[in-house]
Amino acid sequence: STGPSWICTAWCWSTAAYAVLGLLFAVPWFLLSHITFTLLVALGVTKAPVLEMRDFRGRICIITGASSGIGERVAAGLVKMGARVIMACRSKSRAEAARDRIWSEAQERPRRDWRLVRPEVLLLDVSSITSVDKFIQTFTKEFSGCDVIVANAGALSRHGTGRGLDSTMGVNFLGHFRLILALLPRVRASRGRIIFLSSVLHHFGTAFWSRLQPANFSSAYCDSKLAMTMAALEMDECLAGDAGDEWSRACAIAVNPGAVASSIWESGPWCLRRLGRMLAPLVCPSCDEGAAVVLDVATRVKLPTQGRYFVPYWVPQWCPSRLSWIFELTGPLTGTNSAPVHRLAANPTARHALWDWSMRHTGQFQTTRDVAAGDVETAAHTPATPRGLLPTASNAEPSITGLRSPSVACRMEEKKAPQACAPSKAPAHGDFSCEADSEGEDERGSLLALATRTANSCLGEVEKTGRGGR
Ligand SMILES: NC(=O)c1ccc[n+]([C@@H]2O[C@H](COP(=O)([O-])OP(=O)(O)OC[C@H]3O[C@@H](n4cnc5c(N)ncnc54)[C@H](OP(=O)(O)O)[C@@H]3O)[C@@H](O)[C@H]2O)c1
Repeated sequence: STGPSWICTAWCWSTAAYAVLGLLFAVPWFLLSHITFTLLVALGVTKAPVLEMRDFRGRICIITGASSGIGERVAAGLVKMGARVIMACRSKSRAEAARDRIWSEAQERPRRDWRLVRPEVLLLDVSSITSVDKFIQTFTKEFSGCDVIVANAGALSRHGTGRGLDSTMGVNFLGHFRLILALLPRVRASRGRIIFLSSVLHHFGTAFWSRLQPANFSSAYCDSKLAMTMAALEMDECLAGDAGDEWSRACAIAVNPGAVASSIWESGPWCLRRLGRMLAPLVCPSCDEGAAVVLDVATRVKLPTQGRYFVPYWVPQWCPSRLSWIFELTGPLTGTNSAPVHRLAANPTARHALWDWSMRHTGQFQTTRDVAAGDVETAAHTPATPRGLLPTASNAEPSITGLRSPSVACRMEEKKAPQACAPSKAPAHGDFSCEADSEGEDERGSLLALATRTANSCLGEVEKTGRGGR
């Protein structure tokens, strides 16, 4: 679905030139790049990516934040492919309006031989731990499996959480982390996929988990997207021991949908709102184009390239990770391509540190809304969780019963039986560099299996849907 390769090469060189100019003239650069690409598409020289319709009948797919933007278009695409879509949204009215739009669109030109399923709305506010737990309870009661989770809900909100965390981090990452961990056994049983919505801005994230101070607004979004990317890579590494090759087993993937003209800009500060309103419709890809790459990654049997971070732009393989954001911002849109990730995301030790941080915070985080609603009790008491998947309230020394990153699991095991973690030396508190992390793949697999068995038995079900992947 792309133009000849010389166009891509020419495009890249001009993009590189724009990049140099862009240091001085960022906005004209952005405009020029996208307008040129739009012109090339209009002249028929190249093509924007086209979504292929795949048979996804019978698959159960959860999309968080499906009431607008990219999430709504992903839901619409999956409904047209025959999937049973659960729209996990915080506002009933907005979600129902989106569901009606999706359903009437799907019925306009249905495939005659396919029976489409009307999407369902389940309430979920990812910024509230209570709401996440309620969603998990309802979902596991009403549905028997889970093939795809698209962790899409996102915001640029500036409110803090009860524990001094930025709510951007709570919405974009922590709520999803808790949700995904709880549903992971189901996704594994059906060899499904977990899609973490990332962003080009993850390249500007920092090692926020080692900071004592909460992130400020400007860095919180970048940090939350870096966390999504790192969690995807780490979770996928944990799943690598499952039966099947890299695409037929359950897998976790991070996707940058591109800088899309959606309403996300509206939740930012006024300057971003203004810029978003003025420029986004002119220069940014549409929500459909942003959703196309998410849908492709979620439904294609085998993706053409390796990697676990996908973007809709052409990024040269030789491009160092600290420069790839230039290509991720300026196009051309050529379909699903893998791209380099932030150096912290590529670092297993950093990923383990993030995982440990996330486990601690998903045990306790609460938003200002929880506090305002007098929901502190519920939010903070953190039951050993309904399914025993997450740390206990004290969190001083979380229990091994959860699905933990190997380093953490290793530390816990070491306390019980030091020889179990050989050849690692006992790490000091806060030191996540357990040697077994990078070397003990077998151990990693068995610890994961142990955690998953525990999770399964806590769920009271060992699910085998027997669908055997896509
Ligand atoms: N747009 C871009 O340029 C861009 C670029 C890279 C990555 N992304 C990512 O793509 C994802 C979708 O963004 P978008 O552009 O489609 O933005 P959007 O149109 O604003 O959609 C965001 C969705 O998230 C939902 N949401 C926000 N807070 C929530 C919460 N606490 N609980 C549940 N749902 C919540 C919103 O629900 P309401 O309708 O109730 O507000 C909305 O449906 C985000 O993760 C974003 O970070 C976007």
